[in-house]
Amino acid sequence: MEKIIDENIQGQALVLSGDKANPKKLFIESYGCQMNFSDSEIVASILEKQGYNTTQSLEEADLVLVNTCSIREKAEQTVRKRLEKYNAVKKINPSMKVGVLGCMAERLKSKFLEEEKIVDLVVGPDAYKDLPNLIEEVEEGRNAVNVILSKEETYGDISPVRLQSNGVTAFVSITRGCDNMCTFCVVPFTRGRERSRDPQSIIEEINDLAAKGFKEVTLLGQNVDSYLWYGGGLKKDFDKASDMQKATSVNFAKLLELVAIAQPKMRIRFSTSNPQDMTLDVIESMAKYPNICNYIHLPVQSGSNRILKEMNRLHTREEYFELIDNIRKIIPDCAISQDMITGFPTETEEDHKDTISLMKYVKYDFGFMFAYSERPGTLAARKLEDDIPEETKKRRLQEVIALQQEHSHYNTQKQVGKTMEILIEKSSKKSDAHWSGRNSQNTVAVFPKENYKPGDFVMVKITECTSTTLIGEAVGYSENN
Ligand code: SAH
Ligand code: F3S
Repeated sequence: MEKIIDENIQGQALVLSGDKANPKKLFIESYGCQMNFSDSEIVASILEKQGYNTTQSLEEADLVLVNTCSIREKAEQTVRKRLEKYNAVKKINPSMKVGVLGCMAERLKSKFLEEEKIVDLVVGPDAYKDLPNLIEEVEEGRNAVNVILSKEETYGDISPVRLQSNGVTAFVSITRGCDNMCTFCVVPFTRGRERSRDPQSIIEEINDLAAKGFKEVTLLGQNVDSYLWYGGGLKKDFDKASDMQKATSVNFAKLLELVAIAQPKMRIRFSTSNPQDMTLDVIESMAKYPNICNYIHLPVQSGSNRILKEMNRLHTREEYFELIDNIRKIIPDCAISQDMITGFPTETEEDHKDTISLMKYVKYDFGFMFAYSERPGTLAARKLEDDIPEETKKRRLQEVIALQQEHSHYNTQKQVGKTMEILIEKSSKKSDAHWSGRNSQNTVAVFPKENYKPGDFVMVKITECTSTTLIGEAVGYSENN
């Protein structure tokens, strides 16, 4: 499960059968975080009503959309290569239109249209409802751009079209944007202010997924613990809310509870948690409801207090340890994963050693590790020189990855001999005779298919493992089935 996203960034062409009457073909690819994949499902839903069905064939598309990521320079380079490819196809099929969505659209705005002339359409993450108008403009021969960020848009009223779905697991977004301003991060600039989605619409979407046979949802947000609904306002204005609004407000712990109760047979996951916002009541909600999975993605970025401060992460190493200790006390078998950045400006060998020692304390189950990539416009880019040589960043990254591999392997091995509930998702990539699914802690397990099927909750006895995958045999259905 542990992977290095930079090397793993790959677009996924999304398929959907769609409305048979729809005459036009949309090719939509997504890069970057899960939120982008989720947003593409919203875009497909909006465009389905405009006469578009998705296609997997770039060559036959009338409209090509790429949902983009700006988080690291390499992510943007990947998208640029795809744009070159689309333009090569466009030479053969000149009526094809190309649009850029997401974070790169927001960051580069009309630069795509003016300087590069490689796209017809530029649409930021909060402007997808404007797509029908923008496409009309493009069809009339004009370029179109809308990169206005919103303080309200949550797309809560749009029912996403599930693309490339296994029919078992789905993502449901609960917040958009981020107010945290970590100094290395471009997200607050590309995705705007943090907004929480109406809990009612979240529950309705989850009920609808359950009715369609889905068995697991992951609640998505840049910082889910900071979820707060009190009738529509921004979190920063909560102080000004009425007593009534305050009394009926829903925070993340409460939302988890509402979801867990609404669908007690569904597995509930969430991502991402920010240590500074994760409160004990969230951990207690997790412990209270067995259908909330025992897994927390808890990015820390660095183990050095000095670097954490430079990054504007609003917690210390000691506070992070306290949080880890509390999680382990309240949910002893909770899996924990990290995001880590090596080579942030001014990072010394001493700081790097602090990261290593923090990792040794926590012994994370999984990790997503990156070399620092300076992003134009971020606070770090404006005030700190990107002064760590590339080779030092890479060497520290390799050390962090090697240690994570050791810890992942250690944690996987500890599960051999146990019998655990696995939710079957799909055929194993390596063997058609095996199912692949995950346990509550998010570790992948494979086992012979027998008569089970995707969507079944199965008790599996783990007999062996590779460094990240459990291997076992089914011993029967779980009670949850
Ligand atoms: N809160 C978000 C974080 C998004 S970015 C979430 O939902 O996951 C994901 C990860 O990318 C961050 O946790 C960080 O480790 C990494 N990252 C962000 N900006 C980066 C940069 N400029 N250079 C290298 N890695 C970065
Ligand atoms: Fe980025 Fe920090 Fe928000 S990593 S997405 S600014 S929590």
